[in-house]
Amino acid sequence: RRRIVLDTDPGIDDSIAFLYLAAQPDAEIVAVGSVHGNVSSRLTAENALRLLDLVDLPHVPVAVGAQRPLAQPLLRGGEAVHGVDGLGGVAGPPSPRQPVPESAAEQLVRLARQHPGELSVLALGPLTNVALAYLLEPELPRLLREVVCMGGAVAVPGNITPHAEANIWHDPEAAEVVLGAGFDLTLVPLDVTLRTWAGAAWWNAVAQVDHPRARFACEVTAHYIDFYKIHPSDEPGCPLHDALAAAVLLDPALVRCEEHRVTVELTGAQTRGATLADRRGFPSPEDPAARPPIRVATEVDAPEVLARIHRALGV
Ligand code: BDR
Ligand code: CA
Repeated sequence: RRRIVLDTDPGIDDSIAFLYLAAQPDAEIVAVGSVHGNVSSRLTAENALRLLDLVDLPHVPVAVGAQRPLAQPLLRGGEAVHGVDGLGGVAGPPSPRQPVPESAAEQLVRLARQHPGELSVLALGPLTNVALAYLLEPELPRLLREVVCMGGAVAVPGNITPHAEANIWHDPEAAEVVLGAGFDLTLVPLDVTLRTWAGAAWWNAVAQVDHPRARFACEVTAHYIDFYKIHPSDEPGCPLHDALAAAVLLDPALVRCEEHRVTVELTGAQTRGATLADRRGFPSPEDPAARPPIRVATEVDAPEVLARIHRALGV
């Protein structure tokens, strides 16, 4: 059983992660933090509240997170992928609820101190809030059970630039802090998320389900599938990046992982935001104090993951 603090920028595939988690008896969403990324952190908080209403979890608190990255200016561009409202134009009316008054980083630190060793963080957006929480509480890696992040492109091209994946690119400094902090950390990068491709037949099956959650999944994703026509895949459809990370948190056996020290490129004119894994297989003799290794997902049982997400949507 996992007790989860969800850090997220919903976000179309983030929405599918909400729908997935809400259907799992072994997952408890303890709290949500919003972050800038796909759209502003104010909008992503509003969307998180809407999604919690949709999945009948209206008691879960949502804290607004960082409005901007640690060091660089706020980067835009997510609207093209996720729509101006972050939910493919189908966000609908706002939730009657409001976010809680503390920030997402403060909320995470408070909860981690209250429940030492118990909480898992599922990070589905830029890592700004997790980095800020670690800067507030350097013991955070010991206070959390684990962190699972959707982010990075280790042995494949990036998506937002040729070399960088969007969540890392939106705040490379934060990602560099988090990957080096000593968390029990699993990175779920594009290497596996792009293979978790929900194609036309998969979506047709969801469209047959007469349930508000399945209907919402189809509506919210129409915009995303349209955007992903740019991708050179065999089949129209879309990758379920964030829902895969959620599934991996609950069942790590869905992916094969390698352990590597991973750094984030911060200075390259072409490569800023790239995730660089030391894949040599031996420690750096020149740097005995090198950062601890993290788990990097390199292979995925995509048919099984897609079947599980189907079941969560009532297929
Ligand atoms: C990641 O970027 C966002 O657009 C998605 O929600 C996902 O978290 C994929 O690169
Ligand atoms: Ca996301």
